[in-house]
Amino acid sequence: MRKTSQHGQWSSRLAFILAATGSAVGLGNIWKFPYITGENGGGAFVLVYLACIFAIGIPIMMAEIMLGRRGRQSPINTMRDLAREAAGSRFWSWLGWLGVIAGFLILSYYSVIAGWAMAYVVRVGSGVFDGVTSDGVSNIFGQFIADPEKLLAWHSLFMILTMLVVARGVKGLERTVKFLMPALLVILVLLVGYAMEQGSFQQGVSFLFKADFSKITSDGILTAMGHAFFTLSLGMGAIMVYGSYLPSKISIGSTTIIIALADTAVALLAGLAIFPIVFANGLEPGSGPGLIFQTLPIAFGHMAYGSIFGALFFVLLFFAAWSSSISLIEPAVAWLVENKKMSRMRACIWAGLVTWTVGIGTVLSFNIAADLTLFGKTFFDVLDYLTANIMLPLGGLCIAIFAGWVMNKETARQELSLKHAALFNTWLFLVKFVSPLAVLVVFLKAIEVI
Ligand code: TRP
Repeated sequence: MRKTSQHGQWSSRLAFILAATGSAVGLGNIWKFPYITGENGGGAFVLVYLACIFAIGIPIMMAEIMLGRRGRQSPINTMRDLAREAAGSRFWSWLGWLGVIAGFLILSYYSVIAGWAMAYVVRVGSGVFDGVTSDGVSNIFGQFIADPEKLLAWHSLFMILTMLVVARGVKGLERTVKFLMPALLVILVLLVGYAMEQGSFQQGVSFLFKADFSKITSDGILTAMGHAFFTLSLGMGAIMVYGSYLPSKISIGSTTIIIALADTAVALLAGLAIFPIVFANGLEPGSGPGLIFQTLPIAFGHMAYGSIFGALFFVLLFFAAWSSSISLIEPAVAWLVENKKMSRMRACIWAGLVTWTVGIGTVLSFNIAADLTLFGKTFFDVLDYLTANIMLPLGGLCIAIFAGWVMNKETARQELSLKHAALFNTWLFLVKFVSPLAVLVVFLKAIEVI
């Protein structure tokens, strides 16, 4: 009674690994991980983040892929059918809806930041930053984000590129990531090499890996956990929908480990490329979302062939964002095709338009509407906090509960088909108890109940 997806299948295990790694590795690794690490004091934050990846992220990713492959549809329909199969409540299809909404909201700001990366390919490549001072870089960044029309133009371009890939379906996704992922790794390794040669490498390493727990707050722990979900693309159905295109015979356990390790490696490599340059130039690690845009151009402006290295770096960032953004919208597109009987093209146009429109809010939050705040947070900050720190962990919590408590144990065992019984039991223990409890404790701590 194994189903197949109406949207097609990945052609091989490698194709799935590349696509899922493409989804996982993105702005989260290269833009967000360094700046939140900087804001939260370094080593201790990194340690909490790593613990979350292994104790919460990996088991939940296995659960998400497993549910997707079992259901073989968009997350909304998958959850509805799996709940029916397990005689569970209809409420579970709401998990799919939560995911679709989270996907729209994340992509709406993700696209704006990806637009910054594209703009910086041109800026850095044209040599604007040659010999620049730190004030000069801040000015250029400040002027850039103060210009809503420019931000909007880049945001629009990025959305069009994303929707073009999604419109071509599974085959389109596959062809794009096969080329993007290897290119990305090569450029990143090149940059770490540069940081070793020219940056304060020692200082960068000890900032990233020397844990000082006095520097971390409960909000920092929530951020680290939220980021573990964000960086692995968990908790909103992106990995579930990718799992629904996974051929039945492929092992979920080992593939998950490969994806999680690759994602973690890229984040750490990005940190190793960025912090040595930050320290060598006396820059501020905690300067926020502008970190890589305000610090790296200084380094690029002073190194030999800096405009080439710099342009490469931002091309890398754009590539990484592109292969992630497609997974943020795929659950919604799959649902529109299944339930509204739309062609993929039409579904993409609608989903793209909605996301693009919400993105205007983020564009304006950096300039005209910068003073419009809620609890001291701009529109962009609110979206980021709401999605990464609340919606994704909540979605992940529900996925773990569903896989551990609602779904039939034998179905899960069969679908995961892990080689050893002990491995299955470990996974089950993690999704039944460890992951849900960890998410709950961090939530409660963040709202200071305990
Ligand atoms: N993981 C991506 C990154 O690190 C972002 C992303 C893609 C994502 N798909 C997702 C985040 C689904 C949460 C959920 O940049």
